[in-house]
Amino acid sequence: MVYNMSCFICPVCKEQLNIADRSYACTNSHTFDISKDGYVNLLMSQQSSAKRHGDDKLMVRARRDFLEKGFYEPLQKALCDVVSDNLTSESVIADVGCGEGYYTGAVASLSEYRISGIDISKDALRYASKALKECEFAVASAFSLPYADSSVDCILNVFAPSAYSDFSRILKDDGILIKAVPFEDHLWELKCALYDIPYKNKPEKRDDELFRLTSTKELKYKIKLTCNDDIMNLFKMTPYYYKTGRKETQKLISLNELEITVHFGVELYEKR
Ligand SMILES: C[S@@+](CC[C@H](N)C(=O)[O-])C[C@H]1O[C@@H](n2cnc3c(N)ncnc32)[C@H](O)[C@@H]1O
Ligand SMILES: [Zn+2]
Repeated sequence: MVYNMSCFICPVCKEQLNIADRSYACTNSHTFDISKDGYVNLLMSQQSSAKRHGDDKLMVRARRDFLEKGFYEPLQKALCDVVSDNLTSESVIADVGCGEGYYTGAVASLSEYRISGIDISKDALRYASKALKECEFAVASAFSLPYADSSVDCILNVFAPSAYSDFSRILKDDGILIKAVPFEDHLWELKCALYDIPYKNKPEKRDDELFRLTSTKELKYKIKLTCNDDIMNLFKMTPYYYKTGRKETQKLISLNELEITVHFGVELYEKR
């Protein structure tokens, strides 16, 4: 039987996992089956007690349909540029909260990186693992990452929860964290269409004992959505979808055109 070393560790005993046939196993004989789509579930039952398990089918499909249309291609390119400028070809990359792998796949196509993604949503990983056979994907929590201490050169964290102390644990001493976050004016016109009193985003800039912000690339441009499907898909992929009442949601149902500002920050952090 051929054994391949995985990027992941066993969630039970924290030993290295190896891939053999259709499962992952550690030397203590803990085994985890690989799903038919190609991801492995490393989420322990006590970690899955949260009410929501990440993005559901509807959000995942909406995001995939929206991203496929290329509206966030400039962000995808900006992330790839930061990766190529800061990593060598053998680097180990972990995409935390990777979703359907839109950014994971773009980064994987740049070089021979050893890249894996984790997400708490099986629905998202179904897409990611079907599309990107060259990457490893695991269902896991960002707050209990299935990576060994000091084993990762770069964490990608795109619009996903950040667990800084676990990020710091898994990064090598010279490791980096690349985050994409919404900036002040992100989706402003969508919020104006929905709410009587819209609020701007308040981006958090982190500079503490764990991470030092070394550069920020700001991206701001307008996208023109010319059908209701695109508008609704964008809405469904945001946290506003589950927070907005029926009356306000109705305002979008008759809209067929909307020009919207997208405003991102791509932040590069060094581990302290
Ligand atoms: C806004 S989406 C971003 C997905 C992807 N990075 C992208 O930009 O296309 C946030 C992702 O974080 C995942 N997520 C939410 N809570 C999580 C957690 N505690 N651990 C891991 N992933 C989580 C969701 O399932 C979802 O796929
Ligand atoms: Zn084990």
